[in-house]
Amino acid sequence: MRILTGIQPSGQIHLGNYFGAIRNILEMQEKGHEVFLFLADFHALTTVRDPAALRQMTRDAALDFLACGVDPSRTIFWRQSDVPEVQELAWLLSVVTPMGLLERCHSYKDKLAHGKEATHGLFAYPVLMAADILLYQSDLVPVGKDQKQHLEVTRDLAIKFNNAYGEILKVPDAYIPESVATVPGTDGQKMSKSYGNIIPLFDTPKKVKTAIMGIVTDSTPMEAPKDPDNCIVYSIYKLLASSEQVDEMATKLRAGGYGYGDAKKALLAAYHDKFDACIARREELAAKPEYVESILRDGAERARAAAAPTLRAVRKAVGLE
Ligand code: ADP
Ligand code: TRP
Repeated sequence: MRILTGIQPSGQIHLGNYFGAIRNILEMQEKGHEVFLFLADFHALTTVRDPAALRQMTRDAALDFLACGVDPSRTIFWRQSDVPEVQELAWLLSVVTPMGLLERCHSYKDKLAHGKEATHGLFAYPVLMAADILLYQSDLVPVGKDQKQHLEVTRDLAIKFNNAYGEILKVPDAYIPESVATVPGTDGQKMSKSYGNIIPLFDTPKKVKTAIMGIVTDSTPMEAPKDPDNCIVYSIYKLLASSEQVDEMATKLRAGGYGYGDAKKALLAAYHDKFDACIARREELAAKPEYVESILRDGAERARAAAAPTLRAVRKAVGLE
């Protein structure tokens, strides 16, 4: 089973990204699937215009994933733009892409509604994403709910291409894990960079502590019993701590005499138990930029080798060769 996913490098990652996306990728890797994972820097260009920022974000994202446990000896991990073949396939798909299919895409309309400029790149975003997926004959594509429509476009384009030129491209399936809960942010809304409510995965201990201590709680006094299910601290703790620890916190909250401040301290300790090793690994990797670069380059070489037969078949089929 070949599993492929792309991630836009987009700044500081947080617990929502970890539990909503990264953990899932690590599980696939652990299960021994063939995982293809890339940093979608071509896609990021649709919204990032600052070259230094793009470079930095891409480097940071590489460090984040490697530090979290992406293992380049098992997972093919690369930077999208290191495999320029994907642009060739994107063009060959775009000539069979009906305008209406792209005009219906919510994410394009949403981005315009949020003030993004209506560029061709933004409009054609799903075609490049289809090329990312189809170039590697992927079976399964794990994505968040917001990407579901893009996966439908990908399937449509594969089918259209195959109808026009013969069965060449594998029609992939989306994998949208329903079990992945939305991680709440410090204010109780979905944790998201754009809401300013994140608990960062990699930041100074002080910043992490400030974020955790800043989680919104109600005004139930210290002595009074509290409902764990109405407590943001507890819902985040559930993701980080062992089941015994989680039960223990629930019991203490229900019993009273245990304050939200105590619960936050337990959450901070659980965060450190879970992520200190990743933080240390990230620091080590950050000190070896050439090593990280060599991992990405090696990944790109393996990705190119996997892409070559598809591209050759596609070029032949359309009459370029
Ligand atoms: P943000 O909302 O901070 O901009 P992204 O949209 O870049 O995050 O999300 C990247 C990945 O992380 C996606 O797969 C998304 O589903 C997942 N993700 C982001 N925030 C959360 C959250 N609060 N709970 C669960 N998953 C999340
Ligand atoms: N559009 C995806 C996102 O914003 C990123 C992405 C680009 C992707 N190419 C992909 C995801 C191919 C899966 C497969 O999250």
